[in-house]
Amino acid sequence: MNIALLGFGVVGSGVYEWCRDRADLHVTRVLVRSAKPAVADISTMDFTDIVSDPTIDIVAEVMGGLHPAYEYVSAAMKAGKHVVTANKALIAAYYTELTSLAREQGVALLCTAAVGGGIPWLVNLARVRKLDAIERIGGIMNGTSNFIMDAMHAAPVSFDAILKEAQDLGYAEADPSADIDGDDIRRKLVISANIAFDAVLDEESIPMFGIRTVTDSDIATFKAKGFTCKLLATAAAAENGVCAYIEPTLLSADALESAVPRNFNLITYEGVNMGRQSYYGQGAGQMPTAANVVQDCLTILRGEGCFYTDKATPMALDGKDESHPYYVRTAASDKWLEAHTAETWATGVVTGAVNTYEMLAWAKAKLADDPTLFIAGIA
Ligand code: HSE
Repeated sequence: MNIALLGFGVVGSGVYEWCRDRADLHVTRVLVRSAKPAVADISTMDFTDIVSDPTIDIVAEVMGGLHPAYEYVSAAMKAGKHVVTANKALIAAYYTELTSLAREQGVALLCTAAVGGGIPWLVNLARVRKLDAIERIGGIMNGTSNFIMDAMHAAPVSFDAILKEAQDLGYAEADPSADIDGDDIRRKLVISANIAFDAVLDEESIPMFGIRTVTDSDIATFKAKGFTCKLLATAAAAENGVCAYIEPTLLSADALESAVPRNFNLITYEGVNMGRQSYYGQGAGQMPTAANVVQDCLTILRGEGCFYTDKATPMALDGKDESHPYYVRTAASDKWLEAHTAETWATGVVTGAVNTYEMLAWAKAKLADDPTLFIAGIA
């Protein structure tokens, strides 16, 4: 099968490497923005060279961003080409449009590398969904933030220095604020939840709090109390839709998530009858992520490629039944927080059980008064 790569950055060059010596997958065209000597003979700067080339079977979009990725991927499907993408922003934002277009055109649309880097999470989620109903999904779904939190638990470090290391290793997004503030993990959660619950969730409405404001002193407090802090995503079936949110979470030392090192992810579903199953592996990085792109191409080669679910029903967010205690550190006094405070720790307070959506809305508003605020749910 012939593949055209849209982009030749970290993941694109990894796909090229994986395919180079294979007899069944051939990268025959690469769309580039500037000259790339390694692929000079097959490069083009004009997408029409790709979309109008009848010998290209699969367009693998690894350029990132929403535009022109959306226009290119749509045009490729309309031209009858299968699409593989690692672009979670694209799939999360245009879920309904792209999945319906793939169905209409009878082409494959696969994005396994978009969630969990090299982990075959989406394919296994889709597999279990054919048999069991999913109650809850989530976990550690961002390699960069886990890399930072892991380093901060190992020794006091400068947040900026460890972020730079994650960038140098090719883990971080082009704009790493997406990794730190939760946007990247939220995109992955939306895609996973849509597939798990046959839903279409509104990405922007999912409440989140990131790790930008965590300090070494917070981490020292958590360690003294026997907790590990990780940035977790959660989506659970709820009475009137799906309860989805992103927040730093304090986990006991024996929780599986507490042991996840470096850029690794640990993503879990809970099926009604299957119970809990977790997927662990490198959630970011060149060759693992590129491997999932190539695996999707192999799936198409076997004639099995279609999207992970054929249902996409808009669904509301329903957070009314989810509550737990929170650690809160703020320099600003607050009546609502005082009313919910149950305990005082060295660097902050701990609340009684508080509704998750209420707390995340409070924290988002409170950041305007106190930009140093940090909160973490307590599992
Ligand atoms: N920036 C992402 C992460 C890359 O750190 O997980 C993989 O999606």
